Amino acid sequence: MINKLRIYAKSALIFTLLLICIHPIHAQNPTAILGAFEEELTWLIERVDDPQVEQIMGYDFTTGEIEEQPVVLALTGVGKVNAAIMATLILEHFQPEAVIFTGVAGGIGLGCIPGDVVVGTTNVQHDMGDMTPDGIELFGVRNPLNQQRNPIYFSADSTLLELARRAVDAVELERAVIEPKVRNPRVSCGVIATGDTFITSTPKKDELRDYLKVNAVEMEGGAVAQVCYQFNVPCLVIRALSDYSDENADADFEKYYRTAARNANRLVLQILQIQ
Ligand code: ADE
Repeated sequence: MINKLRIYAKSALIFTLLLICIHPIHAQNPTAILGAFEEELTWLIERVDDPQVEQIMGYDFTTGEIEEQPVVLALTGVGKVNAAIMATLILEHFQPEAVIFTGVAGGIGLGCIPGDVVVGTTNVQHDMGDMTPDGIELFGVRNPLNQQRNPIYFSADSTLLELARRAVDAVELERAVIEPKVRNPRVSCGVIATGDTFITSTPKKDELRDYLKVNAVEMEGGAVAQVCYQFNVPCLVIRALSDYSDENADADFEKYYRTAARNANRLVLQILQIQ
């Protein structure tokens, strides 16, 4: 009887071990990849192996693998509130090991051109603060969970930043501006600012550059960075330039946003390749 029990227990153990090998319980958590609107994710979505679409509260999340890395991709919609909603949902439902935002931005830095990629070393919300007669004085709001004040500049995760730096050598960017006199696009690191306005103003652009040291401006990254900061999840924002944030920004955006969006996606793909 005891022998029979021993054999039974042994078989059950072997069976359980086999099950664990076939279906790893601790599968790797995915990398979450967010973009604001369709063209900001299309190129990457086309590269997802075995894509599955899951709906949560009416929003679509695409899961699968890119370069054998588990990923979950989703569109946030434009603006900080939309971005914060999706960042929170994706953290809650998928427990990603990291969040990468990919998309386009207005150029602020001197000498930049459409198609250039800016990897955010920090993300600042340029419309969060006191509006004084002398302009905006930025502050970080408190995290209601622990009453700690958020920083004004959210720092990118250093491991993701290092991966992005390593990915630069291998990435192939497309030219957005075709004129022969214009140089090829390149990748740089810098400050990315976020606010709920599309910037089409040279004075505002100059203010962002001169006072906040901004390289690129967009409408979601800083919100995602704040959600990730408050929930302690690594985050990186990658943006390619679609315009110069000046009075021509609307027209330039129309001309360049598709190529720019692909360039940001290309760097994300390269990061997944070397991860
Ligand atoms: N995204 C792309 N271009 C932008 C701009 N000029 N301002 C804000 N967000 C943008």
